Amino acid sequence: MSAHTEQYLVGLQLAGRRVVIVGGGPVAQRRVGRLLAAGALVEVIAPHVTPAVEGMAAARELIWTPRRYAEGDLDGAWYVLACTDDPQVNAAVGAEAERRRVFCVRADDGAAGTAATPATGVFDGLTIGVLARGAHRRSAAVRTALVEALQAGVVDDVADAVQPGVALVGGGPGDPELITVRGRRLLARADVVVADRLGPRDLIDELGQHVEVIDASKIPYGRAMAQQRINELLVERARAGKFVVRLKGGDPFVYGRGFEELIACTQAGVPVTVVPGITSAFAAPAVAGVPVSHRGVAHEIVVVSGHVAPGDPRSLVDWAALGRMRGTVVLMMAVERIAPIAAALIEYGRPADTPVAVIQDGTTRIQRSLRATLATVAAQVRQHEISPPAIIVVGPVAGLSPHG
Ligand SMILES: C[S@@+](CC[C@H](N)C(=O)[O-])C[C@H]1O[C@@H](n2cnc3c(N)ncnc32)[C@H](O)[C@@H]1O
Repeated sequence: MSAHTEQYLVGLQLAGRRVVIVGGGPVAQRRVGRLLAAGALVEVIAPHVTPAVEGMAAARELIWTPRRYAEGDLDGAWYVLACTDDPQVNAAVGAEAERRRVFCVRADDGAAGTAATPATGVFDGLTIGVLARGAHRRSAAVRTALVEALQAGVVDDVADAVQPGVALVGGGPGDPELITVRGRRLLARADVVVADRLGPRDLIDELGQHVEVIDASKIPYGRAMAQQRINELLVERARAGKFVVRLKGGDPFVYGRGFEELIACTQAGVPVTVVPGITSAFAAPAVAGVPVSHRGVAHEIVVVSGHVAPGDPRSLVDWAALGRMRGTVVLMMAVERIAPIAAALIEYGRPADTPVAVIQDGTTRIQRSLRATLATVAAQVRQHEISPPAIIVVGPVAGLSPHG
C-alpha cells in the first residue's frame, strides 16, 4: 500500500467473527475496545500483555494465548492486527495474512499493511472514521473536531426525529463543560427545556430559537405546588408530541426531586430517560481542592441535607450518628442553618477543631471558598456573606492541602 494511494474506507461486520491481534502492548490494548464493541471474537497472541488486556482475558471478554506468534495462528481469522514491537514478527504476520487474503493492519508500518485503522469517533448511532494517509495526528484532530461539533450541535445531524418523551438530565454543578456527553446531546435535540436556577445556565443560551425554554425556578406557587406544576408541564408537553429535557443542577436524584418527576411521567405513561449528572456534592469540593475521601484519612462520606435544622420534628437525619463518625460529612442546602448544625455535630461528639470547607457557586465563574473549623464556621459564613448555593464539607479532608 503506497502512501500516495487513496485508501478505501469500509465498515466491517465483525460480530461473531474471529479477529487475531498479535502483540499485547498498549497498541493492541487501544484497538481491543472497539473490536469488542463490534462483537468480534478477539484472540490476543503475545507472551506478555498489559494488565488491562489480562483483565479482559480474565473476564472472558477475549482469549489470550500467552506465547509468541506462530505460522498458522491466523487460521479462520477475518481481520488481523500485527501490533508487536518486533518488525520481523509483524512482517511475518502480514505475510501470512496476505497468503490467506485476510486484511491486516501493521502497527509499526501502516503502508506495509493491507488495512489501516481510521481515527474513530462515535456519536448517537453515528460512527465517524477519518483516514489521512498515515498522518495520524491529522486524522485524530479532524475526528475529535467532528465529534465535538456534533456534540455541540454545530454540525446539523438530521437524525430521525426524537420520540416524544422526557429526559431527566443532570446538568452538573454549573460549569457548562461538566454536563455529560449524553446530556449535552439530548439537550441539542430538545423541543422544550425545563431548567432550574442551578446547573449549566450558559447552555440555555446556545439553544435554537425554536426551543421553548421554561424557567422552573420562576414557576409561581409554593414549593410543593411548584413541583406539581413542573410535573404537569413535563407530562403536558410530552403528550403534545414534544421531546422535553428537564435540565437539573448536579445529579437529578441527589436532592433534586428527580424521582418525583420520574414517578409523575411514568404514571402518566410518558417515556422517561434518566441521564445522571456530576453532583455538586463532590464536584464543588473537588474544584476547591478538597477531596471528599483520602486514603488513610476518610473511609466514609455522608451527603446530608441541611434543609431542616437538627431537632426539627421533620428532620430524617441522625445527627447523633454524624457526630460520632470520623469521616466526611458533605452538607447541602445548609448555609442558613449552619450554626445549629455545627453546634449539633460538636454536641454529639465531633471535635470543635474539625476542619470545615465552604464552597459557594462551585465550578462557576463566581466560585469562592473558605476554610474554617466546626467552632468557627457559622461566624465565618456570616462574616464572608456566603449565600446559597454552597457545599459545606466537614471532616479531616477539609484540612488537607496539596502542599502537605
Ligand atoms: C436542591 S439541591 C440540588 C443538588 C443537585 N441535584 C446536585 O446534585 O448538585 C441544591 C443544593 O445543591 C448545592 N449546590 C448546587 N450547585 C452548587 C454549586 N455550584 N456550588 C455549591 N453548591 C451547589 C447547594 O448545597 C444547594 O443548596
